[in-house]
Amino acid sequence: MKVIITKDNIEGGTKAFEIIKKGMGNGAKVLGLATGSSPIPMYDDMCDSDLDFSNMTSINLDEYYGLNPDNDQSYHYFMQKHLFDKKPFKNSYIPNGMAKDIDEEVDRYNEIIADNPIDIQILGIGRNGHIAFNEPGTPFGSLTHKVNLTESTIKANSRFFDNEDEVPRQAICMGIKSIMQSKKIVLLAFGESKQDAIKALVEGPVTEEVPASILQDHPDVTIICDEEAAAKLSDKYRK
Ligand code: GLP
Repeated sequence: MKVIITKDNIEGGTKAFEIIKKGMGNGAKVLGLATGSSPIPMYDDMCDSDLDFSNMTSINLDEYYGLNPDNDQSYHYFMQKHLFDKKPFKNSYIPNGMAKDIDEEVDRYNEIIADNPIDIQILGIGRNGHIAFNEPGTPFGSLTHKVNLTESTIKANSRFFDNEDEVPRQAICMGIKSIMQSKKIVLLAFGESKQDAIKALVEGPVTEEVPASILQDHPDVTIICDEEAAAKLSDKYRK
């Protein structure tokens, strides 16, 4: 596991962008994409670049269940706004949060992932160590599934909504097994609120109680975090 400590999220975004650029130069065709505030500077760099994504496929990690794609809190909306409006991909997949039959949607999404092996997966991390919406306790062997969001995630994400009651209680989410099958993984984390999660991810025991800790077992992971998020890491990571 490689840890890169940057001065802020802007520099972190540029580091992640450089990894994507290099990966595309080496033939990467499928990007696994994430929402949340952490990857936004990386998307800004992608939008400002001269890179062409029109031959690329993107697969997003998750979507709230029950939000229309045109709801400004949906992850469809987020991806359009931060990336796809400026940089369209050949195919962009995001779980359908309005699917009537959730089991069918889960199967459909698993087929999409199986048909499009992910070359580079971008991740954020929740304060409780979740990746995508894989909350503590999610089996490491999980594929795409419907999740009940924890109180801590609902609270953390309520900052984007008018009030906490408006935060959806469920989501559709790529499973940990699928994330681990990506060839390369880049995780972004910035700010003091991520200190404990980063410490547990990098140096804690590998446990389903900290979903991100499984990344210790992946052969090609880069953690990009700022000084604040890295503050609790041992000195050996902080050189
Ligand atoms: C949400 C998303 C995650 C994201 C996390 C952290 O729960 N489902 O994919 O990693 O928030 O978001 P932020 O980057 O805004 O801290």
